Amino acid sequence: MPMIETINLTKRYNDMVALDNLNLTINEGDCFGFIGPNGAGKTTTIKILATLLKPSAGQAMINGLTVGYQNRQIRPLIGYVPDFMGAYQDMVVTEYLDFFAACYGIHGDSRRKVVQDVLDLTDLNYKAQSEVNGLSRGMQQRLSVARVLLHDPKVLLMDEPASGLDPRARIEMRELLKELKRMGKTIIISSHILPELAEICNVVGIIERGQLLYNGSVAEAIRRARVGQTVHVGVTNRTQEAAEILAKVPGVQKVTVHESAGVGASGAVGGGTGGPPVIHVTLEPGGRMDITDIPNLLVNKGFRITVFSEEAVNLETAFMRLTKGLVS
Ligand SMILES: Nc1ncnc2c1ncn2[C@@H]1O[C@H](COP(=O)(O)OP(=O)(O)O)[C@@H](O)[C@H]1O
Ligand SMILES: [Mg+2]
Repeated sequence: MPMIETINLTKRYNDMVALDNLNLTINEGDCFGFIGPNGAGKTTTIKILATLLKPSAGQAMINGLTVGYQNRQIRPLIGYVPDFMGAYQDMVVTEYLDFFAACYGIHGDSRRKVVQDVLDLTDLNYKAQSEVNGLSRGMQQRLSVARVLLHDPKVLLMDEPASGLDPRARIEMRELLKELKRMGKTIIISSHILPELAEICNVVGIIERGQLLYNGSVAEAIRRARVGQTVHVGVTNRTQEAAEILAKVPGVQKVTVHESAGVGASGAVGGGTGGPPVIHVTLEPGGRMDITDIPNLLVNKGFRITVFSEEAVNLETAFMRLTKGLVS
């Protein structure tokens, strides 16, 4: 049984369809990256899973329990980190955690222990006596995570926990998430930036306008996006001629000639200041041509190859390609 499952989950706000038959399956121990642009439906999905919103149609289940029908049994299993934490005037960090631990029905020595444990885990010990409102956004986000760990939930629902964080705070959040994953938590974490999640998530789902465009491993997302890949080719001479030959090959979408690195944007084409020019060959999506065919083709025409490198497909590119509908 999956730990989190949605079946044709649909949410309408009046006439507006925010979620359109969303089907997700997330297994125990998965760290699922939920990626999509603003307005895609991430927060809506997470709030439904957190039992805070009712679906218009379809079902959402946590550990086999149905949202909207078995909320009381679901709530102890989940920890929800909203995109923004509210303001807590005049509360210091330990009081804040103590307050929520009490809400969860944790008392006495075990409460003191659990507050200490979550402070250690989230690296907030040195801020234990600081006012919540005076914490940086990064620390407040870690405190939000600390709060939802008090009752040791199996499932963590995190809505853009790294948004608005500076680079250091992002890294700290990432380390914390890795630790939670190691602890065996099932995690769903949303973001509008894919690279942020690549390192921690074993599965990703890409959502746009309430529909799931992709659901699978990070590696598979990159592999799919590789169709339409660009490769950089350098030859010892007759670059322009090589470029024209490549442009005529079926399966090649675009060929451009660039001055090689070292020449600034203003470097004149054909100027002798930089290295030899480099040809950028972009293949059509669909895979009629394989990049590994390129060297042979040129060698057979008498060219000598000095550069042959695949343009790195990063997750950002993969994401952009997948969401532009270039891949079905
Ligand atoms: N309470 C609401 N009333 C009306 N429309 C809403 C409400 N909440 C969200 N929406 C709309 O639903 C869509 C999905 O929003 P949301 O789930 O917040 O997306 P995301 O978190 O991916 O940015 C958006 O078009 C948003 O404007
Ligand atoms: Mg959102």
